[in-house]
Amino acid sequence: MADKIQNAYHDSKNIYDDVLTQSNFFSKLYIKLFWSGTDDNEIARKVLKYIPDDFSGKILDVPVGTAVFTEKKWKQLRGAKITCLDYSSDMLEQAKSRINEPYISFVQGDVGKLPMKDECFDLVLSMNGFHAFPDKEKAFHEIWRVLKPGGRFIACFYIKGESAITDCLVKAILSKKGWFTPPFQTKEELQQLLSVQYRDIDFHVDGSMVYFACTKK
Ligand SMILES: C[S@@+](CC[C@H](N)C(=O)[O-])C[C@H]1O[C@@H](n2cnc3c(N)ncnc32)[C@H](O)[C@@H]1O
Repeated sequence: MADKIQNAYHDSKNIYDDVLTQSNFFSKLYIKLFWSGTDDNEIARKVLKYIPDDFSGKILDVPVGTAVFTEKKWKQLRGAKITCLDYSSDMLEQAKSRINEPYISFVQGDVGKLPMKDECFDLVLSMNGFHAFPDKEKAFHEIWRVLKPGGRFIACFYIKGESAITDCLVKAILSKKGWFTPPFQTKEELQQLLSVQYRDIDFHVDGSMVYFACTKK
C-alpha cells in the first residue's frame, strides 16, 4: 500500500497542481464532469481562513503535498512554527522548492505514525489528505494525539455518498491508481467520529468534499 501511494504521487507530480487548481481546460472539464464543479481553490480558501493571519503557535501541515495551497499562507505566518509532513518524497521535494523559511521544516513520514510527542501542536491542518491515507483510524488518532487540548483540527477531504458519479470515479479510477485509498466515510460517520473527540465543530459539505474546523476537547 505504501509503495502504491509513493508511485501514484511520483507519476502525477507534474500534473498534480494543474488538476487541483484547474489551471487548464481539461482540468476544469474534469472537475465539472466528475466533481459537480466543486472548486478546490475555493475550499482551500475557506479552510485557510480558519487560521488567523497573525497565528503564532505550532502548526502541523499533514499532508503538505506540493504546498500548492498552503505556500502563500505559511509564508505570511512568520510568528508561527510550521512542520510540513508528507509520505511521498516527490511531493515533499516540490513543497521544499516552494518554501524556504527558517520557521518552516519538512519531514518525510506517515500520518499513521507521527514522529512527534503527544500534545505538541496548537493546530493541525489536513488538506485533501484523508481520502489518500491508507489507515484513517490511525490518522485520526495520531492527529488527536499530537494536538494540545484546546488545539484546532482543520481539514478538507472527499466523503462518499454525496454524488454517484464522483463515488464511481473514486472507486473505478482514483482508488485503483493509488491517489485515493478506501474505505471512505460518509458525512454522518465523520460527524459522529469528530463529535466524540472535538467540540465547536464548524462542518460544511460542498459536493463530495467536506471541510471543517474543530477544537480538541
Ligand atoms: C491529494 S494530496 C494532498 C496534498 C496537499 N495537502 C494538497 O491539498 O494539495 C494527498 C497527499 O497525501 C500524502 N499521503 C498519502 N498517504 C500518506 C500517509 N500515510 N502519511 C502522510 N502523507 C500521506 C500523499 O503523498 C499526497 O502528497
